Amino acid sequence: MSKKATLEGNVYYPSQDVIDQANVKDYDSLYKHSIENREQFWTEEAEKLEWFQKWDTVLDDSEKPFYKWFTGGKTNIILNAIDRHLTTWRKNKLALIWEGEPGDAITYSYFALNREVSKFANILNSMGVKKGDVVTIYMPQIPELMFAMLACAKIGAVHSVVYGGFSYEALSERIADSKSRTLVTADGGWRRGSINDLKTIADEAMKRSPTIEHCIVVKRTKQDVYMESGRDFWYHDLAALPMASWKYETQKLDAEHPLFILYTSGTTGKPKGQVHTHGGYSVYTSVTHKYVFDIKDEDRWWCAADPGWITGHSYIIYGPLINGATVMMYEGAPNYPYPHRWWQMIEKYGITILYTSPTAIRGLMRFGDDWPKRYDLSSLRLLGSVGEPINPEAWRWYYEVIGKGKCPIMDTWWQTETGGFMITPIPIMPLKPGSATKPFFGTEVAVVDGDGNEVGVGEQGKLVIKNPWPGMARTLQGDPDRYVKTYWSEFAKQGWYAAGDSARKDKDGYFWIIGRLDDVIKVSGYRLGTAEIESALVSHPDVSEAAAIGLPHELKGHAIHTFVILRQGVSDSKEIRDALRDHVAKEVGPIARPEKVTIVDSLPKTRSGKIMRRVLKAQSLGEDVGDLSTLEQ
Ligand code: WTA
Repeated sequence: MSKKATLEGNVYYPSQDVIDQANVKDYDSLYKHSIENREQFWTEEAEKLEWFQKWDTVLDDSEKPFYKWFTGGKTNIILNAIDRHLTTWRKNKLALIWEGEPGDAITYSYFALNREVSKFANILNSMGVKKGDVVTIYMPQIPELMFAMLACAKIGAVHSVVYGGFSYEALSERIADSKSRTLVTADGGWRRGSINDLKTIADEAMKRSPTIEHCIVVKRTKQDVYMESGRDFWYHDLAALPMASWKYETQKLDAEHPLFILYTSGTTGKPKGQVHTHGGYSVYTSVTHKYVFDIKDEDRWWCAADPGWITGHSYIIYGPLINGATVMMYEGAPNYPYPHRWWQMIEKYGITILYTSPTAIRGLMRFGDDWPKRYDLSSLRLLGSVGEPINPEAWRWYYEVIGKGKCPIMDTWWQTETGGFMITPIPIMPLKPGSATKPFFGTEVAVVDGDGNEVGVGEQGKLVIKNPWPGMARTLQGDPDRYVKTYWSEFAKQGWYAAGDSARKDKDGYFWIIGRLDDVIKVSGYRLGTAEIESALVSHPDVSEAAAIGLPHELKGHAIHTFVILRQGVSDSKEIRDALRDHVAKEVGPIARPEKVTIVDSLPKTRSGKIMRRVLKAQSLGEDVGDLSTLEQ
């Protein structure tokens, strides 16, 4: 093999440098070991972390599919993400480099992180937050978002982060579902030069959320906001009180104690609260991060996602901090005020690994090569992609223009439900643009037909995971039946997890993800449900029925297209279509704004009255609509 990275046909081989420094040098033998001795493999990895008390059982499968990991063990994710670093030289290592959109910046060492998190924990405690309570967090990407999440974990409270781009409807629904009594928010956040009015949206949500007793507000933009006496408190006022000390003892928790709830959109209106726990998630996020991104102490790691989604939870906050990495976090838009913003920060902070989404790459590629070429990007040694399949054109641009042909791209396939990477390369692996390559250690994946038979090489089928893994979501908040029904019923006989994605496997055993099989639409890598968009549309007084589908979009991967039946007496016009698009953006959030609203007289439905989105999709794409025998006549 050549010493340099090479391209042979359509396969990219890593350079000798990459191989020499890789944490794992032989995928096949470690994979084999991890599958043949799965529990031993996870034991070996878990033993590399600290525990207050070691576990009795690695995997408890007595109540399948409600698997439990490391039972009998006592831990707290903070023990590994912060506490253990304080007794080593990493105490003074940078934990966080943060830059705000207006250009303000601050850094925190692990020592400082501990101080801030302990202070936040005392403040939450003084507001009555106790072990097991759910705290809803609705924040911009500022350091206090990280502190709030970690403070909850330290107390044993459960955080429920709601993405700052979501509307008051989405926020209040998530507060109601989790019966949260405490909300942490900010007076706003910066996005493309303007203020995202989080507090005003939170006020609307709180009007509909009787469970909320206290709201802690972090000052970010300094704009005037409404503060309700007795309910709303400024964070800086609370932080100045003597009770907000810099010491808080990390609570000793059962390995299976819940760490967070993160909501994903459901097929029926109600969002699904995915529950993750301290022990297994600590092991899974740190091991995946360490092996896939080959983490070294010298690294400056930048996962340019939002902490409001699973990618931010696992790979801005928990995995990297457990690995003692230096984490970069940026508040604003990639192209504000100019499209050089990211490239400038890579040079400025000496970022070594960049992990982002195909949408962001396509968006920046659009501005041409001159913007990145102005900056010295030579600090980069690895790149990553997540959220949707990456098209080969974007892959090549990322590889050539950003990575200068020397940084392998880790295309990681995973889900909110999986907690961490499931199908992913490691740096030594030959890469094929557009393929997430092979399963991570300890994981067996297959592409099967409806009966569970493996489909032929290159054929499309359903993606299943054949075994439990420590990072898996344990249940859906308050709805265990739905957890079983959604993920474990289709292949109940075999005991497999149905991922909801379609995929292919090629002759070399590489997996190619095609897309969602269910009613999830990935818009710019963000996960939205058709149900949320449709219920927003029918909540408009002029709408009688509505359907939403995702259609391919050059920049966003997929965009939302909606079909609407208007109420009698209302006629089609540009005004009404625009009003409906605005209405969805207001109800769900700006990312859900439909690309197009088409007014129709009827919608294709099954005899039982279910809208056949598949038919709408095929019709829109000019494809064969397939079997219509179940269509209502
Ligand atoms: C899609 C995001 C192709 C997939 C971490 C999955 C991907 C859904 C990839 C989960 C990838 C994620 N290649 N598709 N590398 N990564 N997906 O829960 O459809 O927001 O089921 O988790 O994103 O989205 P979620």
